[in-house]
Amino acid sequence: MTSKAVRTVSKVLVCLFVLATLWRLRLNSFHFPSQSVFHAHGSTTNVDWSRFAYTQYVTNTAYLCNSVMLFETLHRLGSRADRLIMYPAEFSTENDSVEGKLLRKARDEYGVKLAPIEIQSRDSADSTWAESYTKLLAFNQTQYQRVLSLDSDATLLQSMDELFLLPPCPVAVPRAYWLNPNDRTMSSQVVLIQPSEFEFNRIKQSIADAGSNDYDMEIVNNLYKDSALILPHRPYDLLTGEFRSKNHTSYLGNAIERWDPMDVLSEAKFLHFSDWPVPKPWVRADPKLIEEKQPTCDINPETGLYDDCRARDIWLGVYDDFAQRRQVL
Ligand SMILES: *[C@@H]1O[C@H](CO)[C@@H](O)[C@H](O)[C@H]1NC(C)=O
Ligand SMILES: *[C@@H]1O[C@H](CO)[C@@H](O)[C@H](O)[C@H]1NC(C)=O
Ligand SMILES: *[C@@H]1O[C@H](CO)[C@@H](O)[C@H](O)[C@H]1NC(C)=O
Repeated sequence: MTSKAVRTVSKVLVCLFVLATLWRLRLNSFHFPSQSVFHAHGSTTNVDWSRFAYTQYVTNTAYLCNSVMLFETLHRLGSRADRLIMYPAEFSTENDSVEGKLLRKARDEYGVKLAPIEIQSRDSADSTWAESYTKLLAFNQTQYQRVLSLDSDATLLQSMDELFLLPPCPVAVPRAYWLNPNDRTMSSQVVLIQPSEFEFNRIKQSIADAGSNDYDMEIVNNLYKDSALILPHRPYDLLTGEFRSKNHTSYLGNAIERWDPMDVLSEAKFLHFSDWPVPKPWVRADPKLIEEKQPTCDINPETGLYDDCRARDIWLGVYDDFAQRRQVL
């Protein structure tokens, strides 16, 4: 006699309890971000974009050209954040040198702010080292609340303005998905940074203590491995070498999804040139090497033939596009 009434009452009580809990959670999450300085998250109408900048660092003329190309892309895509170039103080912006012309073009046509710097170096004349340390000077650009450092041996496919609106964190980076997944190594090709004196001092200390095989990636990994916000490498960091690979599990993040080179290209925002032993796209390559290393065509399930050559066409196309834009500049 009692069981039916008891069951009904208890069902009603359980429902009320669940509803009350959900209501409380909703209120909590509503109050959560109130202390955040990034209160414009989700809406970009009231954002002061001058607090944010894409940064490039330059140590030589070839890379200056790549950086100006990247700024041209940001300008063309209508990105709203500032653009900042850190370049060697020896490059004159006034005279007719290639460097002077490129810097003036960046400033006058693409709205780039110029920050002269001293190239960082250590006793051994190791240019890779100098490159990699100069990148870390982005932590010293404290006139900005946030800067996004992008490697310039890359093609920017879409604006990344939304990254500036992420919740506060000292550093946000994607993982280097192409390395051993068990190492969880973070990539330093795309680094979102909150510049500060405190963090820059830590960086300087790590540089001073660095071993001979420690470059910017090792420093960022050592300092931030437990505190970085991880950006999804899809869509923020894709290597051109992915189009040559026959195993896409690491990139896709699962073994179920079908690899579709067109879909991957259209979702990606940042495409980094990385195809060793194929040289970077501004270095003349031996045509035999390209012939040998270019992506092979995939099997087409509809025809059963190896006539799906989209990955190869994309790969050749992105190299060609880079070369053409560089020629024009
Ligand atoms: C331009 O400036 C650089 C660096 O100051 C200098 O080495 C070079 O001689 C100058 N070139 C001309 C054409 O004035
Ligand atoms: C860092 O920034 C400060 C202030 O702008 C500047 O005086 C200093 O030279 C910079 N340090 C380096 C290593 O560039
Ligand atoms: C593809 O790569 C994944 C992740 O590295 C690995 O677990 C898997 O065994 C590989 N598959 C093949 C067919 O080699």
